[in-house]
Amino acid sequence: MIPYSNLIAIDKSAKTPVFLQISTVLTENIRKGIIPAGARLPGSRALADVLGLHRQTVVAAYDELLAQGWLETRAARGTFVSRSIPEIRPLALGKNVPEPGFSGKKAGFPFIIDPNLALPVLKGTNALAFNDGFPDVRLAPLDALSRAYRTVLRQGFRKNLLFYADTSGEGSLRAAMADYLRETRGLPVGTDNVLITRGSTMAIYLAAQTVLRPGDVVVVGEISYGSANLIFKKTGALLQTVPVDKRGLDVDAIEELCKKRPVRMVYVTPHHHYPTTVTMPAERRLRLLQLAQTYRFCVLEDDYDYDFHYDCNPILPLAGADSGGHVIYVGSLCKAISPALRVGYAVAPAEVIESMAQVRRIIDRQGDNLLEAAVAMLFREGEMRRHLKKAQKTYHRRRDIFCNLLKNELGNVVEFSKPTGGMAVWTTFDPAVSLPDLAKKAKENGLYIPDGSTYSNGQNAARLGFASVNEEEMERGMGVLRALLK
Ligand SMILES: Cc1ncc(COP(=O)(O)O)c(C=O)c1O
Repeated sequence: MIPYSNLIAIDKSAKTPVFLQISTVLTENIRKGIIPAGARLPGSRALADVLGLHRQTVVAAYDELLAQGWLETRAARGTFVSRSIPEIRPLALGKNVPEPGFSGKKAGFPFIIDPNLALPVLKGTNALAFNDGFPDVRLAPLDALSRAYRTVLRQGFRKNLLFYADTSGEGSLRAAMADYLRETRGLPVGTDNVLITRGSTMAIYLAAQTVLRPGDVVVVGEISYGSANLIFKKTGALLQTVPVDKRGLDVDAIEELCKKRPVRMVYVTPHHHYPTTVTMPAERRLRLLQLAQTYRFCVLEDDYDYDFHYDCNPILPLAGADSGGHVIYVGSLCKAISPALRVGYAVAPAEVIESMAQVRRIIDRQGDNLLEAAVAMLFREGEMRRHLKKAQKTYHRRRDIFCNLLKNELGNVVEFSKPTGGMAVWTTFDPAVSLPDLAKKAKENGLYIPDGSTYSNGQNAARLGFASVNEEEMERGMGVLRALLK
């Protein structure tokens, strides 16, 4: 006789409904073989009496288990544990029987731990932070987005947005993005040249998977965007570095490399080099394009913060001057609005976009159609422009205040150049200051700053983000650093 009153402990204060608590306990016990296959369960009234519950609660639990196939009813005889549940066949005890119990930690099969991928992920935080250069998510046009999202949800069926769809992205967003990129960046593109991704990280990944084979050479700056390096290494490509100076990547050094061996790709952030924020001037850009043409390599242009420039008009992207189809251009709304809004894009010759979409298909059947349609609506209704204009004005003012504070408060221990755009100041600390120690102590005092490790070139420097903090927060954060550096 199975002691159901002991077996089933009900917690009426728990969030889980009582009928689910009963069905969960019953399945666990059936799985373990404690209630064996074919066993007859007490009638619902009897079990309800034993447990002190309403009969309907037990009926609901039984119904749930009947629906899941754990139980079966036999006419006029009652409810039984199904005889055809494979999990309940107990293992014979003996030698070579695995330890019972699953620890949840250890795998029972070999798998790959890739040391290249063991880089810490830089997280955003709601706490006070001079981060790597993230947007102020408090400025995000959330009301407009939720209105657009509601409209899109309502139209979902009629506009066929609820089904499997184009792997390259939702059509209206591809079109809106092509318009936007033509108008703001002079990119001569149509819808076929645009692939919508979940952020620019995915765009870089797809570009790498599409262009690189094991052993291919990818050129990056001596100091560069660490996550992109990881993506390139994962393809089996070989990273070759070139110096970075006040005008970005050293293009002469790229040419020297090309003369020695075939180069398949050059990764570049010309608008504001990551992490140093310097801008690559027009003449270097044109040289790079000429080299791409001569040596037939792909330029992967990561334009992560093009929307934010303060002192002059931005230099147009390399992709705009590329007549030979050498550039894959990537960008995202994650910096423009919020990192949680996973909408990015890649722009490239149509045949490359098609191949990238084929790679995308095997890791992510398609993007978030509904979100993409809502974002397209924000573009169409002018909300995106309004937001970017507002953010640009706010960040411009914050950059000036932040740089003044940095100079006045920490000028004796830091060196920096005021960035012409973007969301962070590349700040080099005096060698007497240990940046990892400073970051640790700042955190203990309520301020997050990067400890420099993700830039991994041994410089005692970090990107201190100013965009996400208002004036009062900046002063508070600077106060923490000043007190620690006294
Ligand atoms: C240079 C650069 N590229 C790309 C990204 C990736 O951005 P996301 O995937 O959020 O669009 C970042 C994010 O910090 C970045 O700094």
